[in-house]
Amino acid sequence: MDKPTVLLHLDTDALPSVFDRVVAIDSGVAHVLSYGGVTPAAVMALVHGCVFTRGAKDLHRTAVFVGGSDAEAGEAVLAEVKKHLLPAYGLSVSVMLDSSGANTTAVAAVRAAARHLDLATATSLVLGGTGPVGRRVARLLAKRGGRVTIGSRQLDRAEAVARSIRAAYPGADVAAAAVASSADGPAALAGQHLVVAAGAPGTVLLPRKLRAGAAALRVAIDLNGVPPAGIEGVELGDKGVERDGHAAYGALGVGGAKMAIHKAALAALFTGNALTFDLDEIDALAATLG
Ligand SMILES: NC(=O)c1ccc[n+]([C@@H]2O[C@H](COP(=O)([O-])OP(=O)(O)OC[C@H]3O[C@@H](n4cnc5c(N)ncnc54)[C@H](OP(=O)(O)O)[C@@H]3O)[C@@H](O)[C@H]2O)c1
Repeated sequence: MDKPTVLLHLDTDALPSVFDRVVAIDSGVAHVLSYGGVTPAAVMALVHGCVFTRGAKDLHRTAVFVGGSDAEAGEAVLAEVKKHLLPAYGLSVSVMLDSSGANTTAVAAVRAAARHLDLATATSLVLGGTGPVGRRVARLLAKRGGRVTIGSRQLDRAEAVARSIRAAYPGADVAAAAVASSADGPAALAGQHLVVAAGAPGTVLLPRKLRAGAAALRVAIDLNGVPPAGIEGVELGDKGVERDGHAAYGALGVGGAKMAIHKAALAALFTGNALTFDLDEIDALAATLG
């Protein structure tokens, strides 16, 4: 008989995320062991607690989920988790990273856009493109082959993100744009087929009159779930509805797919004991969901 599934939930925030715990339970995990305030220094003992308890043949029933609101801290914890696995001896568990929900949200947003556009040729503007969600949206769009512009209030921050994406995907067509002044918006939007707003909660990044004047725009996706909307005129629940001549998605419209992808990735963790689900693997998994 299979041992019950155990998810070691390592959260870099002091209080482990209730959201991530509930999603894990709803995805069918039998036991969620949540630890908060996790730093790389604490990881070795936590991982050893996973890999030295069950024998190698049962370790596909244990997995690690890394979350928290600080995506860079999550990446550091993920790297540390991998350092303490012992795959050569079969003493390994699968691990998923979804700090800030950034991986699953970015994958869901890009899949929504792909329903309307050929992303290999589309031009896209990612507003709030320097945050954890926006960076990942931009990375996935660049991977699909289209031209991506990272929007930020500070050009140098956008340029740093563009450089990091080009380093990850040599040949990627990634540009940076400042979007701080009223003149910046129309220039950044000109010729874009897709705009994704991934700004901080409750911040308006794209006023309606700018969006309505963007002649090439076909799809507008707002990931901000806290009113006011990040893209003015896009409603929270919009899911491909037409607004001012283009398809619109709001945070809840993307959130359903995000949740399905999150649950599928958690379930997939228990199909092996040496799997990693970071952005690219979650993207590949989502492609199998239909
Ligand atoms: N729908 C879903 O299922 C789902 C799931 C997860 C997250 N989200 C949402 O996705 C969005 C992005 O998340 P995140 O964690 O990446 O966001 P974040 O790090 O809080 O902010 C992203 C970017 O927004 C810009 N920004 C911050 N404050 C601003 C302000 N006052 N005015 C204009 N721009 C500002 C910053 O870029 P610059 O400083 O470079 O301009 C920042 O890098 C959030 O709204 C979050 O709630 C949605």
